[in-house]
Parts: sequence; structure tokens; C-alpha cells
Amino acid sequence: MNAVLTMSRDEPVLSERNRLARTATPSRTLFVGETATELLRTIAGVLDIRSVFPRISEIVQQVVPHDALGLRFTDRAGRATLEARSTDELPEHGWCTTAEQNEYTIASDLRRVRLAPADSEKSINALVAARYRSALIIRAVANDQMMRLGFFSRQTNAYSLNDVPAARHVADYVAVSVAHEQLAAAERDRAEARGRSERVVGRVRALTDHGAELPARHRIVGRSDAWQRVLARALRVAPTDVTVFLQGESGTGKEVVARFIHQASPRKDGPFVAINCAAVPEQLFESELFGYERGAFTGANQAKAGLVEVAAGGVLFLDEVSEMSPFAQAKLLRFLQEREFQRLGGIRTQTANVRLIAASNRDLRQAVERRLFREDLFYRLQVFEIRIPPLRDRISDVPLLAEQFLTDLAGARRGPHARLSADAHDALVAHSWPGNIRELRNALESAAILSDDGVIERRHLSLHAKSAAAAVPHDLSTLEQQTIENVLRETGWNKTEAAHRLGLTRTQLYVRLRRYGIERSE
Ligand SMILES: Nc1ncnc2c1ncn2[C@@H]1O[C@H](COP(=O)(O)OP(=O)(O)OP(=O)(O)O)[C@@H](O)[C@H]1O
Ligand SMILES: [Mg+2]
Repeated sequence: MNAVLTMSRDEPVLSERNRLARTATPSRTLFVGETATELLRTIAGVLDIRSVFPRISEIVQQVVPHDALGLRFTDRAGRATLEARSTDELPEHGWCTTAEQNEYTIASDLRRVRLAPADSEKSINALVAARYRSALIIRAVANDQMMRLGFFSRQTNAYSLNDVPAARHVADYVAVSVAHEQLAAAERDRAEARGRSERVVGRVRALTDHGAELPARHRIVGRSDAWQRVLARALRVAPTDVTVFLQGESGTGKEVVARFIHQASPRKDGPFVAINCAAVPEQLFESELFGYERGAFTGANQAKAGLVEVAAGGVLFLDEVSEMSPFAQAKLLRFLQEREFQRLGGIRTQTANVRLIAASNRDLRQAVERRLFREDLFYRLQVFEIRIPPLRDRISDVPLLAEQFLTDLAGARRGPHARLSADAHDALVAHSWPGNIRELRNALESAAILSDDGVIERRHLSLHAKSAAAAVPHDLSTLEQQTIENVLRETGWNKTEAAHRLGLTRTQLYVRLRRYGIERSE
């Protein structure tokens, strides 16, 4: 039989492991130490695998010769989340069909491959047009995503079963590196959040130490009844060890309130450790939270304490809990039930001395109803709930917050204190603030840069998505989705710029793109 071994579902699937073991010959399948070391060295230090992908291709030439190497990650819905090519000659999209469920695919002559769905056929044609004749595609799972690594050759019959083990080895290295890349991104987000809230911690400390005598710049700003009720509830629960659940739209100040509770509690001299559940890859959740012992898995050369241990004596802040995978939810539930944990690969059971504060910008109750979130976990987290009102429901706080942010900005830039013109002030209180306090801060930041004589005019304020807000004032997720879509359109789908405008980190933006299934429509 020519051509395809496993491309079509009607063809025999030749992926049984024992068969591989029998047919593998040592010459090309041996993933020699040198190659492995060099590969690791190349991918270990980089934050974006795409930047070193041509180099990776060079290194693995020795073990699996090819004319082009392609990498594609897709999420559960089949959407591409990361793509890389060793050369521009390889067609950009569609060299793998997402319907493919085989562990590997070998095509010995792409010209003779016939596939049912039209788009699969198109992608094969593109490969053939680019003069590729044979292919070996390896499928692996990493971080809840599907990864495909494709080796392409201009020769026919370039690949056989003998190449599969070595190719799989390369794929495993790449998958691990991408998992770490995503972890590093999560860490960067955390650091960013820490920096943001450090100033606030200073203010809260001053507030709890000196009461209300302080000048406005040291306070958590807000005099509206709605906001005062939030602080009163927070102060009531602070002295206890009860788990607190903060529910509020994005940018309403959930983290600010979490830190306020920490600072007003007997644990105030202990650490405040935040974990963004949406940003930690599923596979790494357990080891992040509970740590691991040396040798617990390949690469665990040293034992590492998890965040539960790091936060001992203080507060562990679980942000975006609604985004936890079922696996992570099960792990957390066990911990909450027993208040005990073990490091991964460890045998010692330890008791945790942490207070938990959880936060979500989605309605967790609704998530329970839709069976996206475990009910038993919900009740354990939601012992004492504080709902943080959106900024549009406490508009009277807008001028105070604006004043505070302009003072902060003047301090940070060591420049003059920008003032608001009357029409800018009116625009601020008329706006519906879908991005809440974060949006306000960002709007003022860019307006302060645009205003040259120190007076912020209405035209300096870019207040986005007002029309979307007016169209659907009651459905918050639609509102969020529309806002994101509008901003993406305005920025020409530049995600970094859009995230900045929305006051989100890139990771937070990607979580929302996935949640709402937002894709660029051509
Ligand atoms: N009452 C307040 N006074 C002063 N600054 C505030 C207040 N509330 C929030 N902020 C500022 O607004 C920004 C957003 O707050 P925070 O990060 O706590 O929101 P969040 O609800 O956790 O948002 P998300 O969960 O979507 O990240 C931060 O820069 C924070 O310092
Ligand atoms: Mg937050």
C-alpha cells in the first residue's frame, strides 16, 4: 500500500505501542543525549518557543530529517492557540486536520492522499503546492490542549514507523517547554498584580493603623453607600478565619478588598499569596498549590514548597476560581475538606495554616447550575460572600477615584497634577464603566499623557463601548463579550493593545476569548 498509513479513518491505524517497539531500529530512533541536551538548552531559557523554532528544527534534523517543521496547539474547541513554522515555505494553516485523533500520522506521498472534509483536502493541496511530498505528524496532549508537531519532507516515503519514537521524543520536549512557557506567563501576571496592589497595601495598612484621619491619597477610595457596605462587611469578617468569597465584575477591586481583609485581620503580618486559577495550566495546578518533593517527576531536581505552604500564617487568595478545571476543582475540594495536604511525590501529610479568600467575576451559582463548577466546592468556598458592586452602581465614587489616580500619576511621573475640565468630569460620570475601576484608571492614564497643558478635556478620554453598554445593560457577560469584540476591532485585533485598553493582562484576555469563543472573522 502506498501513501497514507493513518490519515484516513478507513485506513488501518498503526499506532500500537508494541508494534512500534518491534519495528523501531536503533539508528534513527535513538534520541541521543547530545541532541536532547542541546534541545533543552535552546528551549529552556526562552519565553516564546516561536523565537527559537528554526533552531529547534536544525537540532532535530539529526534524529528526524525534514525540510520543514510545524507546530500547532489547539484548544478543546479546535481553535489554534499557538503556531510555529521553521520556514515560511510551509503553508501557514491547516497542515494538520483537527479531526485527526491518531497518535501519529504518516503520509508517504501527499499527492495520493484523499480526505473527506473539503478543508482537509485544501490543506493537503497547499502542502503539495509547496512541494512537500511526505509527512509525519505527532499528536500530544499538553495543558488541556492538543499539540501537533509535523515533520515534512520534499521526498516521498521519507518517514516510516521507525521515526515515530524519536519524533515523539521531540514532541514531548516541546510540549514540556510550552507548559513551562505558560507557567512563566502566569508568574508574570502574578508579579504584575502584586506590583499593582503593593501601593494599595500601603494604603490599607495606613488606613487600618490610623483610621479615617488620613489624607485621601492613603485611603482605599470610595464614599458611596455601596462601597462603604462592602468595607463594613469586610471588616466584620476580617478578624475570623472564615473563608471569604468575593464576587464582582472585572476591575471592581476584588483583589483590593482581599488585601484589605488580610490587613485588617490577625494574619496581617503573615504573607498574602495570590494564585490566578485561570492562568495556571491544569497539569501544574496541583504542584503549584501543594508543591513537590525532589524526584516527584522528571525535572523535579529540587523539592519545592507549594503556595499553600508559602502562605502559611497568612492568606491564600484564589483568583478567578470559576475558571478551574474539574481536575483542579477536585484537588482543591479535597484540601478544603481535610485541611491537609501532601507535596507531590511526598508521603508526609501536612496541616495547612492558611485562610482562604476566593474571587470570581463570573456568577459561580450559575456555573454550578450549568454543571461547570462543583456544588460541593461552591459551598465550601462561599461561606461568607461579599458582592462588590460595579462602578456604574457607585458613580459618586468616580470623581474621588479620578482625583486619587491623577494624584498617583503625578507622583509616579514626578510631573504636574493634571486637572479635569468640566466636560471631562461630566463624561466620566456619564460613562457606564464596563471595565470598572481599572478602566477608569487606564482612561485617566492615557488622557494625562495626551493632555499637554495639564488639563484633561473630554476629547482626551477614550471611553469605549458605551453603545454596547447601553444596548444590553442587564446582561453582564454579553456586555463583556461585546466590549472585548469592539476593542479588538478598534485595535485591528492587536491583542496586546486590546488587553491594555481593557485593563487586562494578556492571559486574562485570552481566558475571555476562549470563554466567549471570540475569533477574528475575516
Ligand atoms: N476602592 C479603590 N480605591 C482605589 N483603587 C482601587 C479601588 N478599587 C480598585 N482599585 C484599583 O483598580 C484596579 C482594579 O482592582 P482589582 O485588581 O482589585 O480588581 P479585580 O476585581 O480583582 O479585577 P479582576 O479580577 O478582573 O482582575 C487596581 O488598579 C486597583 O488598585
Ligand atoms: Mg483580580
